[in-house]
Amino acid sequence: MMEFTQSEFLVETEVPEDELIISRTDLSGRITYANETFCDISGYSQEEIIGKAHSIVRHPDMPSAAFEDLWDTIKAGKQWKGIVKNLRKDKGFYWVEALVSGVYKNGELVEYKSLRTPITYETKLKYQRLYDKMRSEKNERIRKVIYT
Ligand SMILES: Cc1cc2nc3c(=O)[nH]c(=O)nc-3n(C[C@H](O)[C@H](O)[C@H](O)COP(=O)(O)O)c2cc1C
Repeated sequence: MMEFTQSEFLVETEVPEDELIISRTDLSGRITYANETFCDISGYSQEEIIGKAHSIVRHPDMPSAAFEDLWDTIKAGKQWKGIVKNLRKDKGFYWVEALVSGVYKNGELVEYKSLRTPITYETKLKYQRLYDKMRSEKNERIRKVIYT
């Protein structure tokens, strides 16, 4: 179980409308590129994030089924589209719609890439409820917020 203090855990970072959060990974999911917006929103510097597993921004509210579906889809050569709640370095969070797909060179799969855009408040609420339900049905980890 991950523990957060109330002040860290509840802070949302709004994703700007006019910018894309971009990253690329190698075939095992290690980050090979992150744009400036990715760094601004996640709170990591380029130096800190390059070479790390992309799960560095995984939020404990995300059900593992979402990522199983992501990997199954991209490994099958298709584009995955989904709503993701990500964890910032400071334990705050940001919600995005993510598009994840392969990067091909001369017809060969060499990397994966992801583009992320903001979602509405209603969509965040809908997915927070859905993901809470999915995790509780599978006895996955639950949030523990420490009120200070
Ligand atoms: C290009 C690409 C982008 C990804 N972006 C994210 C992301 O923004 N947040 C996230 O939690 N996982 C992302 N993932 C999935 C992670 O690789 C990982 O599967 C996920 O965080 C769950 O962690 P786990 O597989 O260690 O359980 C991405 C994967 C790829 C290939």
